[in-house]
Amino acid sequence: MTSNKAFYLTTPIYYVNDAPHIGHAYTTVAGDLMTRWHRMAGEDVWFLTGTDEHGQKVLRTAVANNVEPQAWADKLVKDAWLPVLDVIDAANDDFIRTTEPRHTQRVQRFLSSLKDAGHIYEGSYEGPYCVGCEEFKLAGDLIAGDGDEKLCPIHSKPVEQISETNYFFKLSAFAKDLIAHYEANPQAIRPESAYNEVMSFLRSGLQDLSISRSTFDWGIDVPWDPSQVVYVWFDALLNYATAVGLGDEPGSAGAQKFANTWPADVHLVGKDILRFHAVIWPAMLMAAHLPLPKCVFAHGWLLVGGEKMSKSKLTGISPQSIVDLIGSDAFRYYFMRAIIFGQDGSFSWEDLVARYTAELANGLGNLASRVQAMVVKNFQGLLPAPGELTAAEKVLTELLIKTATQADTCIRAFDFQTGIVAVKEFIDAVNLYVTEQEPWTLAKKDDEQSRLRLATILYTVCESLRAISILYSPLMPKSMAALWSDIGASESSLSKNFSDAAVWGQLVPGVKITKSESLFPRIEEPEVI
Ligand code: MSP
Repeated sequence: MTSNKAFYLTTPIYYVNDAPHIGHAYTTVAGDLMTRWHRMAGEDVWFLTGTDEHGQKVLRTAVANNVEPQAWADKLVKDAWLPVLDVIDAANDDFIRTTEPRHTQRVQRFLSSLKDAGHIYEGSYEGPYCVGCEEFKLAGDLIAGDGDEKLCPIHSKPVEQISETNYFFKLSAFAKDLIAHYEANPQAIRPESAYNEVMSFLRSGLQDLSISRSTFDWGIDVPWDPSQVVYVWFDALLNYATAVGLGDEPGSAGAQKFANTWPADVHLVGKDILRFHAVIWPAMLMAAHLPLPKCVFAHGWLLVGGEKMSKSKLTGISPQSIVDLIGSDAFRYYFMRAIIFGQDGSFSWEDLVARYTAELANGLGNLASRVQAMVVKNFQGLLPAPGELTAAEKVLTELLIKTATQADTCIRAFDFQTGIVAVKEFIDAVNLYVTEQEPWTLAKKDDEQSRLRLATILYTVCESLRAISILYSPLMPKSMAALWSDIGASESSLSKNFSDAAVWGQLVPGVKITKSESLFPRIEEPEVI
């Protein structure tokens, strides 16, 4: 283990009441893109995801299926939540389950320390609760249903009235410090709309939070009172710290891991769970005198028919169904490219197929296969040495420098769409270059000069593809690895570090260029839904 502080990014941990849909995969893909990007820049990285297994929502699903909640969670994790990581090609470093002893023990220790420090007291709670959100609601949060019924605005389902004696966390005591923290660190909540939402919520004042439940027992026992279990969100938020050794003995491996990872650089969350992460979680950390996460980024929802996609509303689409059609790389490309990260985006099969065809099959895929075929046909598959570069090539070499810088700046700032579009525009420019230079016309001539010019053009396109395969590899790891090898880059030990991507002229003439399988095969419009 190195002593460098890793770039530490987390996804929410997902409820195991059901199998994943593309809304869940969306968050994980974004986290995977960001962490692969940092890794390619040579940084130490830690990428955590996992499952949230306690609480009433999971318990009720297990009961409805006539199984014990632990057996239900085990099955869902094994059959659905772990496999989906392969489906979308996520390279997470760890996967935490809240039923693991490494988590439950650290949660109990944390809770006891907060109690000892006077942040917890016994009280009674009375009010509405949404089991879908696992959240105590305020009257102002609800919308009207039939008659007197009050509905959760996210789940459109009636809330339940609960009345219990519970333990409370003195959340209200932290409002002032949280406001001061965010005023001093406006980048700690992004995008700006999320920052503003949290600030106005904080300024309206905080109530203390019930952090235990007594009417069911599917949860972590409150250490000093086993008749209560820890409130599922209090348990779940701690995963980000328990997974990296929260509170372990000084000198232990856990303590070392914690020193190397904490605080988290980014908690990626959907906007529905922003307040838990930007209000409750930092208050818990403040109470324990721990450093706060550097950034909570709240992304928007994938919408179907104008509403948040969800299994409970029967609008969930499985990641596998899309990956079966276009592959994991194009799946990742589509969601990161088509939707502005931080805003809602509507999903449609038509848009997915149209972008896949225009940008991947016809754009990048066609460029690669055209140039590979010409090198195979005209230079026996060996990369020719270029002649002198003309103004047309210099336009591309200069554009590449700008593209690499812009992609880096945008991706690091969560503006995935602009970062990806910058690379796409470079691909468009290379395609235009090929059209204008007409290498096929030169290939028909057999004078020395035409042959040298043809060599320069084909070399230029292959060099461009080398750079593209680096810049797109965090987004589309599999196909970019194939492209990298098809253009002979793997024959020589070239740098894959971003900082070198735009350095022109790295491919060594004479390496073998392969005309391989199409990177993005054409697809027929699917007959779905
Ligand atoms: N278990 C809690 C999170 C605890 S984190 C300490 C939870 N789980 S969840 O499974 O319901 O949702 C987790 C995340 O999935 C959401 O925050 C969001 O990131 C993602 N999404 C779920 N549905 C989504 C869409 N329709 N669109 C985009 N993202 C969505 O909340």
